[in-house]
Amino acid sequence: MNGLEISPFIAGLPKVELHIHIEGTLQPALRWKLAQRNKVPLRFRDHEYNTYEALLESYRVTYNHRPELGGRKDVPTFLEAYFAGCEVLIHEEDFYELAMDYLKRCREMNVRYAEPFFDIQAHTRRGVPAEHVLNGYLRAQQDAAAQYGVRSNWIFCFIRDEPVQDGEAAYETALPWAKRPGGKGLFHAVGLASNAYERPPSLFADGFARAKKDGLHVTTHCDFGQKDTHEHIRQAIFDVEVERIDHGLDVLDKEELMAGLVDKGIGLTLCPHAYHRRTATEVLFPKLRQLLDRGVKFCINSDDPVYMHDVWIDGNMEKAYHLGCLSEKEMVQLARNAVDMCWADEDVKKEIYGELDGVQIS
Ligand code: HPA
Ligand code: ZN
Repeated sequence: MNGLEISPFIAGLPKVELHIHIEGTLQPALRWKLAQRNKVPLRFRDHEYNTYEALLESYRVTYNHRPELGGRKDVPTFLEAYFAGCEVLIHEEDFYELAMDYLKRCREMNVRYAEPFFDIQAHTRRGVPAEHVLNGYLRAQQDAAAQYGVRSNWIFCFIRDEPVQDGEAAYETALPWAKRPGGKGLFHAVGLASNAYERPPSLFADGFARAKKDGLHVTTHCDFGQKDTHEHIRQAIFDVEVERIDHGLDVLDKEELMAGLVDKGIGLTLCPHAYHRRTATEVLFPKLRQLLDRGVKFCINSDDPVYMHDVWIDGNMEKAYHLGCLSEKEMVQLARNAVDMCWADEDVKKEIYGELDGVQIS
């Protein structure tokens, strides 16, 4: 679907994925299977996908326009397509299969460790019990580590365009599944996802403070090219005091934000293909070199591969490597940055650093 060829060098690199939404990995074949199994009609507004081919075709039109900024109203936005996909996920087994599919693919792509984003609000607001989501992911986390050797710690997200109190209540519901003394061990961090339009990170300051108090890590999306993007980044760095920023590429426009990131050692989880969908190659890819030159730490990730032309972490790395004109040595450095930036246990990190030390550079 995307015409990208993954070079043997990129394919073989040991990888860490820090920016992937688990529901953004729901592949059409599993979506079709679950729709049949759960008797969920596959449709978006007045479009019905009655055949598998029609469903597949729908993935070719994942637009990135913004209706609130005057974009087209007759085709799904990226997030509408993503949430439409979620509708087939109902039972614990569905969430389990989704996560196992993804973690199996991690093994195939040499992703050793991942920190997938999930939320429960996208499901509980459809009447799905939170336990179905949380227990499905928890079982997959454990089984994939044992069966595929892919370790993961997950990130609970507030849905930022829902009321703040709903997010806080969802956090309370999910807390017994956190990785903390007495917890079940699924998630070790809290993030902020969904539509950022007029929903700055500071709205969720109390929720983030609570998560920190509970011993969890914090990160937030600051989407590229969003309205108020610099103010969102400023709040993330100086008000919420996150440990990482998801996207955040607009930081390059403002010296004080660049300084804040570097001083505080905050890294960016970038997803180049997500930006490349609506940014010219010659505008986008030099930014990677600028970040490297300025000493801003970042790593390469995939966001929502199924709704972004089937470009996964290897395809995103391939783009950074070729279109960003980065050397093999620099690509190994980016893979190492992901290990630096991740919140895995020290023994897991040590193992991956060791593997990266052994990568042959031509
Ligand atoms: N951006 C913001 N929120 C999201 C995304 C995304 O790409 N995917 C799922 N939630
Ligand atoms: Zn994202």
